[in-house]
Amino acid sequence: MTITDRPSNTADLAGGSFSSEPNPCLHPFARPVRPWRGEPGTAGIVAVVGAGKMGLPLAAQFASHGWDVIAVDIDQAVVAAINEGRSHVDEEPGLAELVATAHGDGMLRATTDGAAAAREADVIVLIVPVMLDADSHPDYRYMDAATDSIAPGIHAGSLVIYETTLPVGDTRGRYAPRLEAASGLRAEVEGDNGFLLAFSPERLYSGAALRNLATYPKLVGGLGPSSRDRAAAFYDSVLDAEIVAMSSAEAAEFSKLADTTYRDVNIALANEFANYADRIGVDLTEVIAAANSQPYSHIHQPGIGVGGHCIPVYPHFLLDRAPELSLVARAREVNDGQVDVAIQALKAELGALGGVGVLVLGLTYRHGVKELAYSRALPLIEQLLAAGVHVMAYDPLLTEDEVRAVGAEPWTWGAGAPGVGAIVTQTGDPRWNDLDPAWFPGLQVVLDGRNSLGALEFPDRVNRRGIGKTGS
Ligand SMILES: NC(=O)c1ccc[n+]([C@@H]2O[C@H](COP(=O)([O-])OP(=O)(O)OC[C@H]3O[C@@H](n4cnc5c(N)ncnc54)[C@H](O)[C@@H]3O)[C@@H](O)[C@H]2O)c1
Repeated sequence: MTITDRPSNTADLAGGSFSSEPNPCLHPFARPVRPWRGEPGTAGIVAVVGAGKMGLPLAAQFASHGWDVIAVDIDQAVVAAINEGRSHVDEEPGLAELVATAHGDGMLRATTDGAAAAREADVIVLIVPVMLDADSHPDYRYMDAATDSIAPGIHAGSLVIYETTLPVGDTRGRYAPRLEAASGLRAEVEGDNGFLLAFSPERLYSGAALRNLATYPKLVGGLGPSSRDRAAAFYDSVLDAEIVAMSSAEAAEFSKLADTTYRDVNIALANEFANYADRIGVDLTEVIAAANSQPYSHIHQPGIGVGGHCIPVYPHFLLDRAPELSLVARAREVNDGQVDVAIQALKAELGALGGVGVLVLGLTYRHGVKELAYSRALPLIEQLLAAGVHVMAYDPLLTEDEVRAVGAEPWTWGAGAPGVGAIVTQTGDPRWNDLDPAWFPGLQVVLDGRNSLGALEFPDRVNRRGIGKTGS
């Protein structure tokens, strides 16, 4: 309910951590209008293209604020679930209820037909993945296909918004011409001959999407002022968070890359500190807690590496356009090198690894999110296998077949495993604290890859070490 040009929660220019609370919904009932032209208190039709882990929460949120929502997805199973009022995304608190309500109220439906949805909609939000190709350059195949699917349906007055993280310049340089060519209309032109085009990065955290939607300021940049203002008006009508209308699409694109790359570089610094701390036998956890008691220090936690399809990916989007950002490239190397650091730590404890049994706990990139994209468990298992290790693994979110698919033998929670000489925790799942050391009579080392194990007691023969936390 606030549109501003600077977020109000950035406390000062030097940084400073702050915690934000979700804003209450203060929206009055929205009046449905056709066509929707951004008038406060009105709602139109929005198509959300890509109804996945992020797109579905967005679709449900928009519907809960009086918008008629068409979810567009190429996956027939996703479309079928939504049309039955079911969320196909687990592990997102509140989403199943919101989807059921929106569908029951007739405010949420789904289709595979992007052009038809775009033809009907006032606003089209694109949120399909852009990942990396084998050479770490942006892989646009899903977004290009999604753009091409909606382009024939763009009409005079359409507002198109990219929410998927993009390299700086892509909204204007890659997608505006594509949409203009297919629609015969001009971007950033109001009236009969044009459509509006904006970029607004999705900043949500899987597992807290709906809460984050009400909390984090929504950044919006347009191809020009008309696009920016219409997009800001749209978000103001569907979100309870502050809306930040930025000077350009490029500034909004860059903001998302700056935020995520900052975190990657910060973690890389923590990882380098961890290696030094290991060398001199100092506990880095203690050091970071002490250093961060000064308000301008925000050192992140070291770990076995950075996974998921955001933090390890977006620095490459920057490097694709700005290869001179050497610190960014170095941070990627450091963070990817943490798997090797873990392997070396195991070798230091166990000597040669050939024939040793190693149990990897947690295969997803983060606990609680069923996502293997860029998970560091994958190179970890690969390198352990290459060293001749017998690799077992367990992840509460994966089936035994899914564990086998990544090359490890499934371990069943609670089963005795006398052949396990080492355990590596690859996620920080709190349930690792419920391990019973009696299950592992041959255990010699526990490598706590996320420094998240609590006061779990192991027999004296077991050396327990973390990252930047040398052993017992
Ligand atoms: N997952 C996260 O934690 C997260 C966090 C912040 C931002 N994001 C952003 O959201 C984007 C999407 O991530 P996600 O986690 O929702 O992905 P996802 O894989 O869960 O969902 C993507 C959906 O898009 C659909 N799709 C693919 N191609 C399509 C096409 N041509 N037309 C229509 N639908 C198509 C897929 O079938 C799938 O349902 C990311 O690329 C990122 O920019 C994700």
